[in-house]
Amino acid sequence: MPETRFEDVRRFESIDSTNRYLLDEARAGAPEGVVAVADHQTAGRGRLGRTWEAPPGANLLLSVLLRPDIDPADRHLATTVVALAAVDAIGSIELPAASTVVPVRIKWPNDLVDLEGRKVAGVLAESDLASASGTEGLPAPVVVGIGINVNWPGEDDDLPPELQGYAVSLRMLAGGPVDREELLQGFLAALGGRAADLATATGRRRLAQGLLAACSTVGTRVRVDLADGSFEGIATGISPEGHLVVESGGVARTVVAGDVVHVRPGT
Ligand code: BTN
Repeated sequence: MPETRFEDVRRFESIDSTNRYLLDEARAGAPEGVVAVADHQTAGRGRLGRTWEAPPGANLLLSVLLRPDIDPADRHLATTVVALAAVDAIGSIELPAASTVVPVRIKWPNDLVDLEGRKVAGVLAESDLASASGTEGLPAPVVVGIGINVNWPGEDDDLPPELQGYAVSLRMLAGGPVDREELLQGFLAALGGRAADLATATGRRRLAQGLLAACSTVGTRVRVDLADGSFEGIATGISPEGHLVVESGGVARTVVAGDVVHVRPGT
């Protein structure tokens, strides 16, 4: 399968939500590869029905439209594609002050965090399987949005008290402003190869391995919140399918979806 080139980049000074925009475009038959980038979102969507806020012109807010022709059980790897492309891009930016890269990790499955576990970016994948039947011949769409804290917050004090110590920006980690356009170009360059990996079994295993290599969750004590309850254990690995493996009470459980909380010692 030829690699999708993510060249149809649609830029918005202000929009309600880039995810909402691309879901509508997908319903109207837009192909894989469209990217929507916003300077500002008035109704940015976060996970679990939350909102995603950032001041205008400070952060990278974008969504990509994918149409992976794969088993529905593997579609969750679309999130991994975008998270890994963001890790690749962040690792390639030129830093204003430091001579090293900004280290970011993936908190399984949706967050990018720094080495202290503070959130650098969040990923939200939204599907509209119902729209698949309306766009004949095209695989069902999945829209994956990411909000990367690039230049906001500039410091901890910029955040509302409940987010202080919980979120961090690349600017704070790098010690100076970071070029959003350079980061976007790095992201788009990485995205083609990462998205191509969705199409083959070997590629999907590579995505799972990439996730394992970048994952801050493996090796930590976690609480997994599922729809029907929660359990605690030690995250011991990522399965070849990209699921989190958690050992709990002597049993290895595979977590396909759910909210994972890193449990710090003593909490
Ligand atoms: C999370 O809650 O951690 C996920 C946040 C995802 C935010 C991004 S910003 C660009 C895209 N458009 C949206 O409305 N949400 C995502």
